[in-house]
Amino acid sequence: MNQPLLTVDALEVAYPGRGLRALPFRAVKGVSFDIRPGETVGLVGESGSGKTTIGRALLGLAPVSGGTLTFKGEDISHPTKQRRRELTRDIQVVYQDPYSSLNPALTIGASLTEPMIVRKTSKKEAGARVRELLDMVALPADAADRYPREFSGGQRQRVAIARALALDPTLIVCDEPVSALDLSTQARVLELFLEIQERTGVAYLFISHDLAVVREMSHRVAVLYHGEIVEWGDGDAVTSAPEHPYTQRLLLASPVPDPAAQEQRRADRLRLKDIQAQQDLQAGAA
Ligand SMILES: Nc1ncnc2c1ncn2[C@@H]1O[C@H](COP(=O)(O)OP(=O)(O)OP(=O)(O)O)[C@@H](O)[C@H]1O
Ligand SMILES: [Mg+2]
Repeated sequence: MNQPLLTVDALEVAYPGRGLRALPFRAVKGVSFDIRPGETVGLVGESGSGKTTIGRALLGLAPVSGGTLTFKGEDISHPTKQRRRELTRDIQVVYQDPYSSLNPALTIGASLTEPMIVRKTSKKEAGARVRELLDMVALPADAADRYPREFSGGQRQRVAIARALALDPTLIVCDEPVSALDLSTQARVLELFLEIQERTGVAYLFISHDLAVVREMSHRVAVLYHGEIVEWGDGDAVTSAPEHPYTQRLLLASPVPDPAAQEQRRADRLRLKDIQAQQDLQAGAA
């Protein structure tokens, strides 16, 4: 029953190097994890660690140079163009900046109906579905006639979520979906992601640099460091008592309101940074 929805096995992504003799850049190095139906797997790591690259590899937007991606039992590491198009019904994406995913010239209603064209939905059905989608993300029905610029950042992200849901996907790649929002809006949008998962059973690959956000959202968590997973397992275990010094440092970077505790954390963080630097040096020398 707990068959994975997606299995990522020894995934490698190498971007071509620039210039004649440049070597390819290995952005993702032998990454393995899986996502079960209806589960949220958090992917956390600092800037440049390869989080977006992994998400893009699942969507067929980054060059897979090794390993396999298995989705519902099918190898999707190198699908045909036709198959890739079909897969977008099942695997959707929500980005940090909804401006990049919403066409500013289309009303929200038109943006939400667009993905349905592949399904040859009738106009009436599409209208009903738009109302249903807006309701799911708690936007008023008259939002359909308005344009993206007429909404706040948080509302626009709700529209982007509605759009991702339009074709009933089984997996949504959420790449820093709340990072551009202020804290209270962030909390409401995270709540919305959870509600939608309860209602629809959709699975998320939830990407964030913020360990606190990932902790709140994820059943299991993978910690990425320089393109490799350094820690992987139960979300609470990884985020509250991490074993790897890098994860410990990430945990200490989550802000705390108490200044004395903050000071202590800062000292701990600096100490861990020294240990990490020494380890990196030793690894480099070996
Ligand atoms: N199209 C590309 N061509 C070449 N290198 C790339 C490309 N996209 C990303 N990279 C490199 O791959 C590495 C991983 O980038 P990626 O965007 O996956 O990181 P990230 O963890 O999502 O970072 P952030 O938190 O800043 O979004 C970086 O060193 C980046 O410079
Ligand atoms: Mg990124």
